[in-house]
Amino acid sequence: MNAVCRHGRLKASAIGLVLLACVQSASADSVTEHGKALVEVNCARCHGVGKTDKSSHPDAPPFRTLSKRYPISDLEEALAEGISTGHPDMPEWIASPDQIEAIITYISTLQGP
Ligand code: HEC
Repeated sequence: MNAVCRHGRLKASAIGLVLLACVQSASADSVTEHGKALVEVNCARCHGVGKTDKSSHPDAPPFRTLSKRYPISDLEEALAEGISTGHPDMPEWIASPDQIEAIITYISTLQGP
C-alpha cells in the first residue's frame, strides 16, 4: 500500500515537470513561431521552409540549406533591403526589423550541425 502511494506521487511530480518545461519553451520560442508564420506566408510558395520539405520553385534553395552558402546573419541585410537581388521571380517584400529578426531566428533553427 505504502509503496503504491509513493509511486503515485513520484509519477505526478514527473508530469508536473514535463508540463513546466513545455510552457517555458513555448514562450521562449514565440519569436521563432512568428518567423515561421512569416516565411510560410511570404516565402513557402517557392522555398522549402521546413526541416524536410522541398522548394516548389526549382531554383529556390530550401531555407535549411542557406547557411551552407553564407552566414545566416547576412540575410538580415538582404531582407532589410528587400531581397530583390538574385530573385527574378520574387515579389519585392521589405520586412520590418521585427519581422527580420523573427525570420532569421526561425531560419537559424533549421540549419544542420
Ligand atoms: C516567387 C518565388 C519566390 C518567393 C515567394 C521567395 N523566393 Fe527566395 N528565391 C527564389 C528563387 C527562384 C531563388 C534563387 C535565385 C537564384 O539563385 O538566382 C531564391 C533565392 C533566395 C535566397 C538565396 C539568395 C542567394 O543569393 O543565395 C534567399 C536568402 C531567399 N531566396 C530568401 C527568400 C525569403 C526570405 C523569402 C520570403 C520573404 C523568399 N525568398 C521568397 C524565389 C522566391
